[in-house]
Amino acid sequence: MIGSIGRMFGGGEARRKRNEARRDLRAGVTDRDRVEFGRATGPHYVGVLHEIHATHVFDWYLEVGCRTGRSFAPICSPTVAVDPFFRLAEGVMGPKRELHLFQQTSDEFFASAAPARLGARFGFAFLDGMHLFEYLLRDLIGTERCLAPGGVIALHDCYPFGRAMTTREVSAAPAGAWTGDVWKLLPILTEHRPDLRVTVLDCAPTGLVMIEGGDPANRVLSDAYDAILARWHDVTIEEYSIARFRDDFPLVAPASFTGRDPSPFAAARSATEHLGGMPEWVSP
Ligand SMILES: C[S@@+](CC[C@H](N)C(=O)[O-])C[C@H]1O[C@@H](n2cnc3c(N)ncnc32)[C@H](O)[C@@H]1O
Repeated sequence: MIGSIGRMFGGGEARRKRNEARRDLRAGVTDRDRVEFGRATGPHYVGVLHEIHATHVFDWYLEVGCRTGRSFAPICSPTVAVDPFFRLAEGVMGPKRELHLFQQTSDEFFASAAPARLGARFGFAFLDGMHLFEYLLRDLIGTERCLAPGGVIALHDCYPFGRAMTTREVSAAPAGAWTGDVWKLLPILTEHRPDLRVTVLDCAPTGLVMIEGGDPANRVLSDAYDAILARWHDVTIEEYSIARFRDDFPLVAPASFTGRDPSPFAAARSATEHLGGMPEWVSP
């Protein structure tokens, strides 16, 4: 089947379409989904993260849900990485001076004294852990409490392109793209935190949400946590309305965010900026 999909497209634009067709097949995307859902087809999210890190060094970078560590491998900022089950690739240390790995759930991490012990205030954070909305909501609450002034928080997988990938049943999740129901963070933030500036970047395959304006003292989300869970737990994206989701949360070209003047990361950048490179005394 995959071979026949491959033969349906010839050179040029073909590779992108072939990858998309393979991804659709694994993710259980139907023809109806293709018509109704929007789709992030811009640059891959890992490339956009790397581009941000190539031009900005933060006092501290946080990543929740890391698996191999490919997304933080080439970066220079001191990094805190949290995952209950790391499958680290070679070379994840890269040029950074500090890498702190916490092999535990994000709930355990935020409940611990670890951020305070490190003195870590995060200038940039990427949240890509468990793909159920209540987990991501807790990760966002925990991260905001440790945010540096002007810090930016990125959320992954909030822009699904098919119904099957939005299931809450982890055992029924399709191979490849499982976004779960973290799409709910977008309407939840619209309703409860209109003070935040939320931008959905057109990053393949499932978007990258950038949140500016976080405030470590804000308790609106934690105070409303139980009510939010009761309101949103059983809502499907169809019940919310796929068309409304597309209309309410338009995709924005990543370059128009990262290239903004002044940079959305300007305030959170490290005062002691150091763009890495190996020190001269490294032995061959
Ligand atoms: C989609 S993968 C992360 C991919 C990685 N960020 C990347 O871009 O290559 C999700 C990761 O979340 C981790 N995870 C699952 N439950 C978690 C939890 N409660 N807290 C933190 N991480 C969790 C999994 O172990 C898995 O490695």
